[in-house]
Amino acid sequence: MSATAKKRAPMPEDILARKGGEPIVSLTCYTTPMAQIMDPHVDFVLVGDSVGMVLHGLTSTVAVTMEMMILHGQAVARGLSSAMMVVDLPFGTYEENPEQAFRNAARIMRETGAGAVKLEGGRHMAETIRFLVQRGVPVMAHIGLTPQSINTLGGYKVQGRGAAAQALMADAKAVAEAGAFAVVLEKVPASLADRVTAEVPIPTIGIGASAGCDGQILVVDDMLGLFTAFKAKFVKRFATLGEDAGAAIADYARAVKAREFPGPEHVFGDATPGGPK
Ligand code: KIV
Repeated sequence: MSATAKKRAPMPEDILARKGGEPIVSLTCYTTPMAQIMDPHVDFVLVGDSVGMVLHGLTSTVAVTMEMMILHGQAVARGLSSAMMVVDLPFGTYEENPEQAFRNAARIMRETGAGAVKLEGGRHMAETIRFLVQRGVPVMAHIGLTPQSINTLGGYKVQGRGAAAQALMADAKAVAEAGAFAVVLEKVPASLADRVTAEVPIPTIGIGASAGCDGQILVVDDMLGLFTAFKAKFVKRFATLGEDAGAAIADYARAVKAREFPGPEHVFGDATPGGPK
């Protein structure tokens, strides 16, 4: 590729082709400026329904709406030029039947330009995944800890330990067989994530899973230290932007109170020769 050639955004089939190859890099994203920052570094961004907790102060993802996903999807799309965008189907917009899922997935793709949607669930969502894929909607599946089911899972617990490993493996195989182009594995034992990665033909995207997955994803506000309400064990903070922002705002408040800000370089003159411009 020449130095000036623009990288084409990957398609779901390009992500699928990365199975077993160079690790796939992804992060969640909710805004235009953050999309511009991460675009050169990631293969795909996920407009995750975690937006409800991270940016809207909700206590879970259950109350996230189609309107929120579409608004944030549109904002993210404006900041991307070389990464693919996947948008989450929110709770209650796809579980009823495949037709409901298609209607809402098609609306998200039409109104945001998303290259694919993500939905939570394994074997019980396989029929819906097949229905969507057959009708032109690429699907990323999400199994293990599925935060939209937090009220039936009984909390944000590790999934697939002990006897539950077999069921999780069956979920992974079912979504792959139904046509999903990738599967997110959230909060599962590392050894199980490695076995799933070895046994399913589609890329596994780990979050709280294993470095052996075909790719990784994190919530961007978690890894930048911007979301500090709590920190899951699987989150590594690569920066402390929340602390930096707090210090900068405290400094601004001090400068305002001391009448140090605005300084002469920040104010406008009345065109007096030699005065501020
Ligand atoms: O909504 C989200 O952020 C997600 C990731 C945790 C995979 O689904």
